[in-house]
Amino acid sequence: MSSAPTIDYSEKIPNNVDLAGDRRLQRALESWQPKFLQWWRDLGPVAFQDHDVYLRTAISTDQEGWANFGFVKMPEYRWGIFLASQDPNRTIAFGDNMGEPVWQEIPGEHRADLRRLIVVQGDTEPASVEQQRRLCETAPSLWDLRNLFQVNVEEGRHLWAMVYLLHRYFGRDGRDEAEALLERNSGDLDNPRILGAFNEQTPDWLSFFFFTYFTDRDGKYQLASLRESAFDPLSRTCQFMLKEEAHHMFVGATGVGRVVQRTVELMKEHDTEDVRPYGGLDVATLQRYLNFHYSVSLDLFGAETSTNAANYYAAGLKGRFHEEDRNDDHQLKSDYRTIATLDDGGRVGEREVLSLTALNATLRDDYVEDCAKGVERWNRTLADVGCELRLPHIGFHRAVGEFVGAQVAPDGRVVSAEEWESNRSKWLPTDDDQKYVESLMQPVREPGKMAGWVAPPASGLHGKPVDYEYVKL
Ligand SMILES: [Fe+2]
Ligand SMILES: [Fe+2]
Repeated sequence: MSSAPTIDYSEKIPNNVDLAGDRRLQRALESWQPKFLQWWRDLGPVAFQDHDVYLRTAISTDQEGWANFGFVKMPEYRWGIFLASQDPNRTIAFGDNMGEPVWQEIPGEHRADLRRLIVVQGDTEPASVEQQRRLCETAPSLWDLRNLFQVNVEEGRHLWAMVYLLHRYFGRDGRDEAEALLERNSGDLDNPRILGAFNEQTPDWLSFFFFTYFTDRDGKYQLASLRESAFDPLSRTCQFMLKEEAHHMFVGATGVGRVVQRTVELMKEHDTEDVRPYGGLDVATLQRYLNFHYSVSLDLFGAETSTNAANYYAAGLKGRFHEEDRNDDHQLKSDYRTIATLDDGGRVGEREVLSLTALNATLRDDYVEDCAKGVERWNRTLADVGCELRLPHIGFHRAVGEFVGAQVAPDGRVVSAEEWESNRSKWLPTDDDQKYVESLMQPVREPGKMAGWVAPPASGLHGKPVDYEYVKL
C-alpha cells in the first residue's frame, strides 16, 4: 500500500489510505463514524457546537500546505485518516530485527503487544477532550477559545488515527477495542480511562495551560517513540499526529508564558508579590500548579525499569526518542545507565541498570530536558521581578515507579511524612487555590479582549490579528 499524500475530501471519511479500495473496512469505519459523532455531541465541548470556529484542517500530509484554515462548525469538522507518506526503503532501526524491512502487516507474535500500545495511546485522545469539555464556558478570550477547539478536534482526529489501525489490522478484536474507546470515559468510576492523568479534571484554564504544556508533551514523546516502530502504518500515523501535537504544546507554552507575563506586570505595577487583590496569579500558585501537572505527567512514562518496555524495544515495536540519531548499537543488551532511586538509608541515590530495561527512564529524561526549556523561557520574564519557577525533583509526588510512597520534597530532600503533610499546601494546589482560580474564570468574548489574569498573545493566527473574531458568536 503506497499512499498519495493528497487527501480525498469527496469521501464520507476523508483519507489518504485508499479507503474506497477496501469496501469492508470502509463500511466498518462508516458504521463507527456516527458513534464517534454521538460521543462528540455527548462528551465533547459543552457549548459552541453550532458556532463557526476558525480551524485548520489537514488537506495534505506534505511538508507544505498540510493545513487549511477556515470557518467550520465543530461537528462538521472533517475528521479523517491521514498517514505520512510511505518510504519504500525504510528499515527497522533498532532491536533484534534491526536492518530488516519494516512491516506493512503485523507479525502474529506481536499482535497483542501492538494492540495494547495502540489502545493505550488511543485512549488518551478522547480522554483529554472529555477532561476539557467545560472550558469553553470560561475562555479568557476568543483567541483562547479557538485554540481550545483546535486542540479538541485534533485529539478527536488522533482517536480516528488509532481506530483506523485497530479496524484495519486487528479484525474483530480491533473493532471491539474501537468501541471500547468511546465507552471508557474520563473520571468514570465504573469505566475510567486507562491512565491516571487522564482521569484528573481540567477544571480551569490555568490547569489547561499546564496540561497542554506537560501532559500533551508526554504525548509527543510517546508518539515519537511509536514513530520509530517497525510496524510502518503505526509509524506513519504517529509522524503525522506529531505535526498536529506541536500546536497543543504551543498552546501550553504560550499560555503559561502569558500568565507569567501578566503576573510580572501586576507585580511591578503594584510593587508586591501578592497580586491576588489585583486579579492576578501569584508565582507561588503557579509553582503549585506546575508541581501537580508535572508530577502526574511523569507518572505517564511508567516505572523506570520495565520488562515490557525492554520487550517492545527488542521486538522493534517502540523505539527511543530520535532513535536513529543515537550513536550506540541500538540493541542495548550490554549497555548500562543509572536511575534515581531511594537508597537503603532512605535517601535519594542511584542504581545501575541495564539500559534495555530502563527505556521508560530514558524517554522520561528526554522529556524532562524538553520541559525545562519552557521553564527557562518563563524565568526570563520572571527574572524582572527576581522570581523563578522550578521543575520539582523527579521523586516528588509520584504514584508510579521508584518513588512511590516516598516523601520527597520538591527540592529532592526526603522528608518525614509529617513534614510532607505540613508542607502539602505549599507544594500542591489547595482548595483555596482552586477556588481563587475558579473565581478568575470569567469568560471574555469580545474580539481582542483578554481576561485580567493573562496577557494577550504576541501575535494572531495565520496572518490574522489578535482581535480577529476567531469564533463567530
Ligand atoms: Fe493527541
Ligand atoms: Fe495533544
